[in-house]
Parts: sequence; C-alpha cells; structure tokens
Amino acid sequence: MAEHLCSLSELDEGDSWLFTVREADGSEEEVVLVRTDDCVRAWLNYCQHETDQRLDRGFGAAMRDGEIVCPKHGSMYDACSGYCDNGKAAESTLVSVDVETRDGDVVLTDDDRTFLHEGAIEADDLPGSSSHLTF
Ligand code: FES
Repeated sequence: MAEHLCSLSELDEGDSWLFTVREADGSEEEVVLVRTDDCVRAWLNYCQHETDQRLDRGFGAAMRDGEIVCPKHGSMYDACSGYCDNGKAAESTLVSVDVETRDGDVVLTDDDRTFLHEGAIEADDLPGSSSHLTF
C-alpha cells in the first residue's frame, strides 16, 4: 500500500526531506527524499564510503547541481541515479527506496519498508538506547 510522505509542493527543486522507515527485518533506517529538475527519488541516508556517515545530518542534505554531496569527504552522488563517480565513494551507488509522485503528492511504494515518521531516527528508537534511564 502506498503511504503518503509529503506534498510535492513542500519539496522545492534542490530540496531534501528526511524520514524514518521500518525495514522488513524490524530495524529502522533514515531515508532522504530529494527533488531535482529531473526527478524525485529516495535513498537510504548514508554514504557508501563510510556507512555511518549520514548524508542528511538532520538539517537537509547538501545538494549541488542535481547531486547529493557527502558532508564528510565531499563525494557527490547523482540525485536521480544514486551513482557516485568521484572521490572516496567513487563507483558506488546509494541504496534506493521506492517512491512515486501521485496527484501532487510523494508516496512511499516500497513493499519492504513502512513509513514511521518524518525526521531522523529518534534516540529512544535506537537499539540499546538508554536515553529513558536516569543514572
Ligand atoms: S564518508 Fe562520504 S565520501 Fe567519505
């Protein structure tokens, strides 16, 4: 079933929108939704060079000329294909998440993922999080 993510009018060209999904294995992942002149796509929110490096660190992914710029070493991924041909992440491709635009909205159509909420994974959602404990 397609789940509504946001209105296309909320996402200008060159913008990104961060949300969290539940994966088929029960884990949570962040997804960065991007819009360029040519496409609307969604990618798991980590660099292929160092997978603990988020592309969107909670205040929007850096976008330049239709590419997503990794904030750590500056590799640039084509926002439409997810492919990187430069820098430390060269010859890699971001992990795609299926989305579509329908009637002015962006919807999640990925059968393996369930929308949880807008924004980053919350600290309380992380495995082993002790943020609810006091010491
Ligand atoms: S961590 Fe992204 S290019 Fe190195």
